[in-house]
Amino acid sequence: MTQHRPAAVIVLAAGQGTRMKSSTPKVMHPIGGRSLLHHAISAAARSGPEHLVVVLRHAREQVAEHVAGISEVLDRSVLVADQDDVPGTGRAAECALTQLPDDLTGTVVVTYGDVPLLTSATLGHLVAFHEDNGHAVTVLSAEVSRPRGYGRIVRDAAGALERIVEEKDASEDEKAITEINSGIYAFDAAVLRDALPRVTTDNAQNEKYLTDVIGIARGDGGAVSALTTEDVWQVEGANDRVQLATLGKELNRRIVEDWMRAGVTVVDPDTTWIDADVTLAEDVTILPGVQLHGACDVATGAVVGPDTTLTDTEVHAYAQVVRTHGNLAVVGENATVGPFAYLRPGTVLGIEGKIGAFVETKNARIGTGSKVPHLSYVGDATIGEHSNIGASSVFVNYDGVNKHHTTIGSHVRTGSDTMFVAPVTVGDGAYSGAGTVIRKDVPAGALAQTYAPQRITEGWVLDKRPGTPAAEAARAALEAEDTARTAQNGSAQKDTEDK
Ligand code: UD1
Ligand code: MG
Repeated sequence: MTQHRPAAVIVLAAGQGTRMKSSTPKVMHPIGGRSLLHHAISAAARSGPEHLVVVLRHAREQVAEHVAGISEVLDRSVLVADQDDVPGTGRAAECALTQLPDDLTGTVVVTYGDVPLLTSATLGHLVAFHEDNGHAVTVLSAEVSRPRGYGRIVRDAAGALERIVEEKDASEDEKAITEINSGIYAFDAAVLRDALPRVTTDNAQNEKYLTDVIGIARGDGGAVSALTTEDVWQVEGANDRVQLATLGKELNRRIVEDWMRAGVTVVDPDTTWIDADVTLAEDVTILPGVQLHGACDVATGAVVGPDTTLTDTEVHAYAQVVRTHGNLAVVGENATVGPFAYLRPGTVLGIEGKIGAFVETKNARIGTGSKVPHLSYVGDATIGEHSNIGASSVFVNYDGVNKHHTTIGSHVRTGSDTMFVAPVTVGDGAYSGAGTVIRKDVPAGALAQTYAPQRITEGWVLDKRPGTPAAEAARAALEAEDTARTAQNGSAQKDTEDK
């Protein structure tokens, strides 16, 4: 099959989207980690058009800025056309033409900014069908059980497409038609340009209907046709938050299924959420309750989950990330994280490193084989290779005004409950005792201790907390000790007497 690239794709996104009940423009609501408009523009871009135009009106500035961002991500030009006061999809398309060359030839595709599941493959198929048959207009239609609200496909006695009638203009017989207009079309550029000025607002909604181009083209002797799509999800729009969630779930189902077919084990697809921009390697395993957001990248053999949420995080080969919340972090090859770890931006865990249970890290580079196994906070730190940070340690990085950095060397062993008061440096091979507060640099190979002698006040609890369970427990223990001592003394006495 020859490559069929449209000359232009027009993405309609001027509508208000009132049913979303949101201060955010409808097309900017996200599913799968991208806005509806981003999905629509991506599919349009992948169909390879020379020109790509988005029509805006509602929240124009905000959406135009969003479009500029998408254009940057996709690394291609996306034009913006402004719709004026005349309402309707026909007017929107007419306004888009002002951004395209006057002598444009070939196929112009029209899609919607709020239809996120449409693929470039479907667009390619539509354009190929349209061009191979020399049509003036081809509309993508679908059979649905509940056609309410959609324009209906009216066919003539021979079954050929005659026109499209909107719900509000339809007769009872027409309302019974279950083949609907998806709103996605391929037009011959010249036909579209010629017909649009002739479309009137003479209808129930006083709008310029793009659908009227079909009747006009047919009247001019052009071939018009409807191509029915089996995959109704692809032409479904999000008008309210219920549809947004439904489409989000279906998009996720498709993404998860694609990854399984690409060699990823997903134990429970129903509780696995993977954004559109995530990349996974073969033989990755995703356990139940995992969400991978943004540009996460997981390498081969890695196991993520259960119950883990990662955003823009890299997990290298054969690493394991269990019950973890991570954002902008890197987990090295064969490293282990969790359970109950919190990886904040700038965490880089080296090969075979470990971030264990109840550990929070931020802006922390932890070298090859180094471990922070239990109950610790590592913020603004560099840790060398094969070092071990004792349980319950804190990198005291904040003085109330500024953040400071701590540098730990390689092969360091720090005791439990060590406080590193930054800025401070611990040299290679150094040790610290339990409970040490490191305020001064520790030279390589040194032992650092904060030493305060332990004071014992015998009988303090019996004296100061009489009648408490603690006092009773202490009394019982002391009495038992007494009895044991007496018995021992008695038998010792007897031994001496016997000799
Ligand atoms: C339109 C079709 C209808 C089809 C349905 C599919 C017309 C006249 N009707 O219905 O046959 O079944 O889509 O969803 O085309 N838009 C603009 N400018 C406007 C109006 C709409 O850019 O003035 C954009 C919207 O942002 C949206 C899309 O066009 O992305 C469709 O608008 P919407 O009002 O939802 O569709 P209908 O006109 O009801
Ligand atoms: Mg409408």
